Amino acid sequence: MPDDFERMWGDLAPVGLSRASGGYFRQPFTSPERELSAWFVEQCETRGLRVETDSYGNVVAWWDVPAATGPGVLTGSHLDSVLDGGAYDGPLGVVSALAAVDLLRSRGFVPARPIGVSVFVEEEGSRFGLACLGSRLAVGSTSWSDARSLRDRDGVALGDVVEGGSSSLLSSVGTFVELHVEQGRDLVDRGAAVGVASEIWPHGRYRFEFTGAANHAGTTRMEDRADPMLTYAFTALGANKQARLAGQRATFGRVSVEPNGTNAVPSRVTAWLDARCSSDSGLRDLVAAISGQATERAGRDGTSLAVTAESVSASVSFDPALAAAVAADHGVGDWPIIATQAGHDAGVLSAAGIPTAMLFVRNPTGVSHSPLEHAEIADCLVGVSALADTLERLTR
Ligand code: GLV
Ligand code: MN
Ligand code: MN
Repeated sequence: MPDDFERMWGDLAPVGLSRASGGYFRQPFTSPERELSAWFVEQCETRGLRVETDSYGNVVAWWDVPAATGPGVLTGSHLDSVLDGGAYDGPLGVVSALAAVDLLRSRGFVPARPIGVSVFVEEEGSRFGLACLGSRLAVGSTSWSDARSLRDRDGVALGDVVEGGSSSLLSSVGTFVELHVEQGRDLVDRGAAVGVASEIWPHGRYRFEFTGAANHAGTTRMEDRADPMLTYAFTALGANKQARLAGQRATFGRVSVEPNGTNAVPSRVTAWLDARCSSDSGLRDLVAAISGQATERAGRDGTSLAVTAESVSASVSFDPALAAAVAADHGVGDWPIIATQAGHDAGVLSAAGIPTAMLFVRNPTGVSHSPLEHAEIADCLVGVSALADTLERLTR
């Protein structure tokens, strides 16, 4: 089993790797991500799993056993990355799912319910802007008519890269389990290799468009400017302060400046706010406070502001009984049950009424969405065993 995990991990290592940064660029429907998806299908076929795909590019592969009946237990994650992401966010859950099936078979285990392994496309929303796009389309919480016109940074529409329409991929799924690298240091602090998720914080992405007036950087007196960069800069500082005061999270990680010249006051700055809070009302309040401050500042700068919510994910509480059952009694005591501020397809399936659990694997750096994201092989193998145990408990 260790060989299987490390061999598969080795297969993925070069795909989409930037030699310059050591990070990964695996944006949905680009060649590295398509290579990973094809690799996944091949791995499923090699194992004799029955592969199903939908019109959005999501994949589910079933371990068919004659004795296995009733709703299935699905496990998996995603293969796309953020821009310059780490190796583990997503692929760890996919490789662990395949390795867990191998481990169950090597144990001679015969499931009484079907077990499936899955990959959802565009989990990160790094290309089309909507987080967990593939799983949202698969459960129907986002409609194809809304999604098809989403555009990437080059203006390519989702409808131009996938056929789209409908999905029945999850119709026989009774339970979903996603294993994921932890994206903070909670498990490090607790001294545990594996943990179980209790909840996902509500979070959202909001496009702030600051419009001003382009003008000469030398001849325009400072008091005569309508500079959207100033309004943006004030807004970024204000968002950081508001989030700190409220004990929440606010990040401007993406900015686009027009015309982006050195010797001109810009005409427009577009910046994307990622905000996360411990409650839905807290998220609404935080975004309203940041937008309010920005609008007030725009009035003073002679600029204008339009705010558009591009992707909003409500809070998710995972099924507590399922979490407790997954966490219970692993020889070393129970796994800790912890909250996360990161979004996951598991949250989308849970919100759609599918009983869902998540397993986290310790990340010694505590860093994620960065090349520094890490998990030790020994912990990954504990994760595979924990996932196999979970699947066994759920399908016995
Ligand atoms: C996905 O990892 C997110 O939380 O943005
Ligand atoms: Mn992820
Ligand atoms: Mn991620």
